[in-house]
Amino acid sequence: MSSGPALASTREELATLLADARGPVGFVPTMGALHEGHASLLRVAREHIGGGPLVVSIFVNPLQFGPTEDLDRYPRTLDADLEICAREGVDVVFVPSVDEVYPGGEPQVTIQPGPLAKVLEGRTRPGHFRGVLTVIAKLFGLVRPEVAVFGQKDYQQLALIRRMVVDLNMGVEVVGAETVREEDGLALSSRNRYLDPDQRAQAATLSRVLRAAQDAAEYGAASALAAARAELRAAQGVDLDYLVVTDPDLGALPDDVPPGTEARALIAARVGSTRLIDNMPLVLGRATAPPKDS
Ligand code: PAF
Repeated sequence: MSSGPALASTREELATLLADARGPVGFVPTMGALHEGHASLLRVAREHIGGGPLVVSIFVNPLQFGPTEDLDRYPRTLDADLEICAREGVDVVFVPSVDEVYPGGEPQVTIQPGPLAKVLEGRTRPGHFRGVLTVIAKLFGLVRPEVAVFGQKDYQQLALIRRMVVDLNMGVEVVGAETVREEDGLALSSRNRYLDPDQRAQAATLSRVLRAAQDAAEYGAASALAAARAELRAAQGVDLDYLVVTDPDLGALPDDVPPGTEARALIAARVGSTRLIDNMPLVLGRATAPPKDS
């Protein structure tokens, strides 16, 4: 669209813009500060919906931030975001205020994300996924998309949204789009802009650690984890929160798995005061370790 996307800041404006929509509605929920990773989500959404309306929401959701987290300093870059949306052929950008999403303050009824929200990110960020699922459920109710696209970079978030959609019969196709990376492997993230040049260089450790796990995965999950830990020990400036190898649904892997079993390596760490997360798929091979001198 040459004229750029239509802007809606209220539920009524959004409903009016979507009233005459033809074709499947595609939806990419964001917190703004858009970058090439988001642009790739928009392209994936467009592939799924063809000529249907593509809707982006930009909303920094207070409900998913803990009291000591970066809600106030979270980057807000609306003009640049709208340029990316225009470039990618977005039809509607929904930019609601906090009052518009949560009239009357914090909602009394929220989504309880269940046990999967208590591990990994959930350990460090209690309440985070309750906030994410609640706002996504609300946004799904307003946008009523056929297809919604989320990045695999937030792998646990993606898993929980898939689970919510199935468990609550929401009838939305959830698509997980591949992580976009810088040349040195750093996963694109709105939070990367907090990193100074030294920290930016150190941040590439996360993807190196995950690649080490991928390379050693042919020797089994334990070897993948050991190789990842060795890469981490060689790095500086990275304060590890967790490094795990799980099954693709974030459950524990059984001790003995057949060659070809899919798994996931996930990492979270602080570089300076910025918390970064990343993950990569693994394909596990035979379960014996390589010879010591290899
Ligand atoms: O991944 C994000 O940007 C946010 O968690 C989301 C999914 C837009 C919900 O606020």
